[in-house]
Amino acid sequence: MRRLDQLLSSLGYCSRREAVALVKAKRVKQNDIVLTKADQKVDPHAITLDGEPLEAPDGLLAMLHKPVGYVCTHNDGEGPTIYELLPDQWLRRNPAVTSVGRLDKDTSGLLLVTDIGSLVHRFTSPKADVEKVYLAELDRELDPQLVEIFARGDLMLRGEDKPCLPARLEIVSSQTARLTITEGRYHQVRRMFASQGWHVEKLHRERFGPHDLGDLAEGEWRLIPVDTL
Ligand code: URA
Repeated sequence: MRRLDQLLSSLGYCSRREAVALVKAKRVKQNDIVLTKADQKVDPHAITLDGEPLEAPDGLLAMLHKPVGYVCTHNDGEGPTIYELLPDQWLRRNPAVTSVGRLDKDTSGLLLVTDIGSLVHRFTSPKADVEKVYLAELDRELDPQLVEIFARGDLMLRGEDKPCLPARLEIVSSQTARLTITEGRYHQVRRMFASQGWHVEKLHRERFGPHDLGDLAEGEWRLIPVDTL
């Protein structure tokens, strides 16, 4: 049970003061019964506002199909941010929605966003062992030997002292490859190819753990039910 005004404000609907006005206007119901007090304890799952159930009352998880050109920070000094593609209400939630890890400005594809702090940790901790699948377009023809080089687990990136964990490379066409990694080092995919003399011209993340983009259009998002996790 949660206090109604706190609940509505933590889900980004309004301030606590505005919650009083919503109640007065008879816009909030619990099990179809109009509520009369903004400070009463309520069951978040039984509440409707203007007839609609509350959005993601147990925490929000969504996937975004990030377009090239958007940055994963809140600071818009580097160009448009992914947060401009999400509903304003998500950013007013407390805790606010943030991305699970990041994609480079020049990378497109699947980005998870959530306000559930434990999920960010679960998905991004080095021990998490979450598979991330990328489609990369290279500047020249791929060499089948790269499959073995990336799989060995001894690939060193410049400036680092631990080799990359084994990664799975599938050559899709002469200059396109699908790479599956379980780590999330800075610019990892681009740097892995660079270490062998290839330049990644286009990079797209198709999958993150069990989640894949499916037919989600670029710039669009989709909620993921948190009870399935
Ligand atoms: N590896 C990269 O180089 N860039 C990304 O955005 C993600 C993985």
